[in-house]
Amino acid sequence: VVEKLIPVYFRNFLHIDVNEVQEACRQLELHDDQLRLIMDNMNERFENGLAAEPTNTAAIKMLPSYVRGLPDGTERGEFLALDLGGTNFRALWVHLTDGEAEITSEVFRVPDYIMKGTGEALFDHLAKCLAKFMEEHGLKGREKLPLGFTFSFPCKQERLNCARLANWTKGFKASGVEGVDVVELLKDACARRGDIDVDVVAVINDTVGTLMAGAYKENTCNIGVIAGTGSNACYMEKVSNIEKINENSSSDHNEMCINIEWGAFGDDGALDFVRTKYDKIIDDGSINKGQQLFEKMVAGMYLGELARVILEDLARKGVLFGGEYEAISQHGIFPTKYISEIESEFQENQDSSCQFLKTREIFEDIGIPVVTSADCAHVAYICSLVSRRAAHMVAAGIATLLKRINKPFVTVGVDGSVYRFHPTFAKLLDAKIDELLERKHKYKLMLAEDGSGRGAALVAAVATRLANEHQD
Ligand code: GLC
Repeated sequence: VVEKLIPVYFRNFLHIDVNEVQEACRQLELHDDQLRLIMDNMNERFENGLAAEPTNTAAIKMLPSYVRGLPDGTERGEFLALDLGGTNFRALWVHLTDGEAEITSEVFRVPDYIMKGTGEALFDHLAKCLAKFMEEHGLKGREKLPLGFTFSFPCKQERLNCARLANWTKGFKASGVEGVDVVELLKDACARRGDIDVDVVAVINDTVGTLMAGAYKENTCNIGVIAGTGSNACYMEKVSNIEKINENSSSDHNEMCINIEWGAFGDDGALDFVRTKYDKIIDDGSINKGQQLFEKMVAGMYLGELARVILEDLARKGVLFGGEYEAISQHGIFPTKYISEIESEFQENQDSSCQFLKTREIFEDIGIPVVTSADCAHVAYICSLVSRRAAHMVAAGIATLLKRINKPFVTVGVDGSVYRFHPTFAKLLDAKIDELLERKHKYKLMLAEDGSGRGAALVAAVATRLANEHQD
């Protein structure tokens, strides 16, 4: 078993009794038959989520975005965009010309107390940042620019510029927002200030923005994926399959983008067969227990913490850090970027001469000054299993979609910090999709950089063009 589980380069370091490490790690291995079962379960939930009357237990929301057409590269004009979805909030001024987007943007922090305070304070903060941005770029006195709002949480939409938050995810918990239209909240906050007014023409999810940004470059782009702080995907679905929106597809556009919200996959028990005791610890310690169970196994907000609880468990058992467990027992002390840094170091020095300088530095910062080379190799190994499982589960999601869409060639636009910064996630993802599809479907993964920002401007552009066409 040891032989099978541990890549050659790790074996050089695993010379202490590693049964406990093996045991902890074995649970993180997902075999292809398990991944295929995940695919089947997922597709079943997709169908259920699209049904005329989704069952109450429908864990996957399959939210219609009311984005029907894809940009074709001819979009032009100036737009404002806002992007809220992680710890940062961004304001953007986007100029679209000749298939290119010229972007001026500024990042603002959203402090934790605002993420978890009142909705009014949250939206006042957003309006304040936007006002500052408009002031700095001389946009305040000008004619109102159409604004696209990327709001990366599950929203019920009945049209493009009205989005009721279904429930908060990731680290947000601001009161009085669930069930309310976020466009109204933003407008009210601007009105309270009195110095800016906004013309929100579209609210979109970051996955939708990513798909739009991908389609702007390549017209085969039909799927948008985020592998970042959160994890989610959207895709173009035939309107005739979206039973719950009760529309016929005789209009110009017979497809609509569906925001899947696959982060909630498993909330109905569908992932119980692969969840480990560590996954349960993560869920118990979260602010949304029982929710977003798939996301908690694959997304950047949780991967570092997942590695940490495994390290804590092994330290408590005396297998790691000479039994020194206090420092590693602190919630949040091991952010996901450590996984990337530790794995990168190991990747670059795959032999027994690896000094683990970066890894040692990290543990020194955490407060464990003495770690052995064997400790470091074990840590790298555990990190690699946590991120590999994540990549494979996301691969199962994308493979399910590619099978479902079943077109001759599909480009998948992907963005997010895990996809971009983890040293092997992108490669593992690609290889596993191919394997799960038995090479029967042709596809390509494409980094759709800054999809949330430029995607919001693109949707705003398409919406403005359509509105003008209707007026003519
Ligand atoms: C969470 C949100 C979802 C978003 C994803 C990536 O899963 O619920 O709307 O797309 O994070 O940011």
